[in-house]
Amino acid sequence: MQREVMEMLNPRQDGVYIDATVGLGGHLEEILKVIGSGGRVIGIDRDDEALKTVDKKLSDDRVILKRGSFSEMENLLHTDGISAADGIFFDLGVSMLQLKNHERGFSFISDERLDMRMDRRQKTSAWDIVNRYPEKELARILWVFGEERLSRKIARAIVSRRDRNRINTCSELSKIVEGVYGGRRRFHPATKTFQALRIEVNKELDQLKAGLDSAQRMLKEGGTLCVISYHSLEDRIVKNFMTESSKKGLLKILTKKPQTPSAEELRSNPSSRSAKLRAAERI
Ligand SMILES: C[S@@+](CC[C@H](N)C(=O)[O-])C[C@H]1O[C@@H](n2cnc3c(N)ncnc32)[C@H](O)[C@@H]1O
Repeated sequence: MQREVMEMLNPRQDGVYIDATVGLGGHLEEILKVIGSGGRVIGIDRDDEALKTVDKKLSDDRVILKRGSFSEMENLLHTDGISAADGIFFDLGVSMLQLKNHERGFSFISDERLDMRMDRRQKTSAWDIVNRYPEKELARILWVFGEERLSRKIARAIVSRRDRNRINTCSELSKIVEGVYGGRRRFHPATKTFQALRIEVNKELDQLKAGLDSAQRMLKEGGTLCVISYHSLEDRIVKNFMTESSKKGLLKILTKKPQTPSAEELRSNPSSRSAKLRAAERI
């Protein structure tokens, strides 16, 4: 949704922009194309691999890359003397790099160890959750973060299997979930389980709430907050945040209904089907 994001952000020549989830830098590059030599873009990511890739690809002194969570953006940018921005953009979820590099343990067809840590300095991985969390806690995570209706059955199947052998790889876990579902489905039956684990490993929903608060504090008057989310749990947080802030007179909502990908984008990139863009202006 690059075109839609750029229309909302509408970057100024000498503006300061924060790409809070730089990933492989696609959106950051679009911003660079339109700002002038006096403008700046700060790209944040928790993933060192993503930042190294972008750093190799771009050599532009208008770009500052920062490793860390967007929930700490004020601290991360303090050392560079940046305390306010004209636009802040979040493109939530995982990057293609994380999904396609099977060693990162995000993909349910991977024979690599269950991992899913966006920041590899962190200790707890999906392996720890699957092999160590109590059954009740596993069921709760699958229910709350995956909206998985078979959460209890899947948690029971995980625990009964790990009592015999540790569950080491992504594909081992996928097969356990497939066994609970049985039969064929439109989406892989492990989709919700993997979503739930990813959210728990990276504390994604807590991070998002804190990140939106930080962004609101950092935005200049008239600056734009733009967020693309990929599932209903994220979208609900963004929607509620913008609604509450607009009631407090801090934000003006620019998207009454979230924008969704065009038919053309859906054809060329079917995995964008769940994307929702919401934007608001700092008052
Ligand atoms: C969908 S990708 C972004 C893709 C990017 N817009 C592009 O054009 O390539 C999401 C990125 O956000 C990062 N991320 C997720 N949660 C984060 C957080 N709390 N703080 C910083 N980065 C985060 C992930 O590591 C991932 O690289």
